[in-house]
Amino acid sequence: MSIVFLNGEYMPKDEAKISPDDRGFLLGDGLYEVTPFYQGVPFGLEDHLRRLMRGLCWLRIDYDVSGIEAMHRELVARNSLSSSDRSMVYMQITRGAAPRTHYFPEGEVKPTIYSYTKEWSRPRDEVWNRGFTAKTVPDRRWSRVDIKTICLLPNALAFQAAKDEGADDAILVRDGVAIEGAHQNFWGVFGDTVVTHPITGHILPGITRGIVLEEAREAGMKVEERPIQVEELGFADELFFTGTTGEVRPIREVDGLKVGKGGVGDVTKTLSDLFLERVEKVKASERTGGS
Ligand code: PDD
Repeated sequence: MSIVFLNGEYMPKDEAKISPDDRGFLLGDGLYEVTPFYQGVPFGLEDHLRRLMRGLCWLRIDYDVSGIEAMHRELVARNSLSSSDRSMVYMQITRGAAPRTHYFPEGEVKPTIYSYTKEWSRPRDEVWNRGFTAKTVPDRRWSRVDIKTICLLPNALAFQAAKDEGADDAILVRDGVAIEGAHQNFWGVFGDTVVTHPITGHILPGITRGIVLEEAREAGMKVEERPIQVEELGFADELFFTGTTGEVRPIREVDGLKVGKGGVGDVTKTLSDLFLERVEKVKASERTGGS
């Protein structure tokens, strides 16, 4: 039985009880974060917390994030995942339980804080090296998806539409632009230039996206943050996704059409290697006391 964290306490998952009046349940009034851990070492946690704080400000939920790192570490330890190659901590904060109104509850309502951890794994090398398939699906989300709210129904419907067609993932398309995936950011390589959508209200500012951008720039690659038109997908040399549990994920086919030469492109492979090296550096730095 996994141990979860709910409102200040650690408990077996089947003892966790959340009110049916919770505004997360009734209205989707809340935020979430997913933070990766590599052998018990958090990766990009500060950035995840910064994004969470920004979301809390937008939603006007009053919650102090200073205890979150210790809670995440404790949860990973209590679930015996400190030496697991890859685990993640899911955290959700909702406005709390109150009689249902569309406006914010009056009087003091405590936010509901729920967190769990679980293992995940990178696809086997032979699977990763083949690349993945994607299907374009209309982006029916609202115009503030930069806030990581728990309202993921359009993402779930898009992912399911891709899955129904036998694709591994969805690429969300809005006004002719390939915006991002259902749960990952989206990238293209055109000649010697690496391209990804700029930070606007239409994409989630992915933490993995930020790290890969940094790595690409440090490696001297030409990088552009600009929208990728759907028509461009046909002549992209490479396409890939980035995200917490996908890391760098090559796309070999979109809507049944081969991307570039098919398989995994050189730039995608280089960025994936740089990302994994960065993970190793963070692990080593924590072990030597974080220098
Ligand atoms: N998904 N875009 C969307 C729509 C996402 O939901 C996510 C993350 C990302 C990548 O962000 P990051 O690099 O910070 O993980 C981009 C999480 C992991 C999820 O929903 O499980």
